[in-house]
Amino acid sequence: MNRRTGPPAGVSDGSGWRFLPSFLISAALLAACASGPSTTLYEQLGGEANINAFVDDFADRVQSNPRIARFFVESDMERFRTMLADFICEISAGPCQYQGDAMPSVHLGLGINDAHFNALVEDMIIAMEAHDVPTGAQNRLLAILAPMHPDIVDTPP
Ligand code: HEM
Repeated sequence: MNRRTGPPAGVSDGSGWRFLPSFLISAALLAACASGPSTTLYEQLGGEANINAFVDDFADRVQSNPRIARFFVESDMERFRTMLADFICEISAGPCQYQGDAMPSVHLGLGINDAHFNALVEDMIIAMEAHDVPTGAQNRLLAILAPMHPDIVDTPP
């Protein structure tokens, strides 16, 4: 019996078998472009407009959060919003240049402890959720912020 089963994928017999592997390669490249490391965190956060939006929301939340509001009572919150948005834009590989003060000089000496730090991070997560920042992008941003802990916290809980 001479049953024809066709060549293995990728081996052309002149009848269109070459189509399958090239299709798979294109699909893999498309998938890599859609979700791969070439997407900047800035883009994943929604660019400047969405960063400004969730930072505004976040600033409102810290000011009304009884665990940390007292730190912000005498702060210039317009400056805080602008500076924090620029800061997040820059560290997420966006087209901004943060021109505010260094983290230790802003924070050390204010008496911020771990509980305060966690309260602020919670407000940040709530604000990002409210502005549809994907969980993966939230985690990428938090992973960049977490190592700044020693520049912010100077007292035990
Ligand atoms: C990784 C965490 C944090 C980051 C990235 C961060 C970032 C910033 C930035 C960019 C500014 C503006 C600096 C400037 O005006 O030049 C700022 C100001 C400020 N931050 Fe933070 N911050 C963090 C954590 C905290 C925490 C935990 C608190 C207190 C609970 C806090 C309290 C403040 C206050 C009170 C100001 C305003 C200071 C002033 O009035 O001049 N920050 N922060």
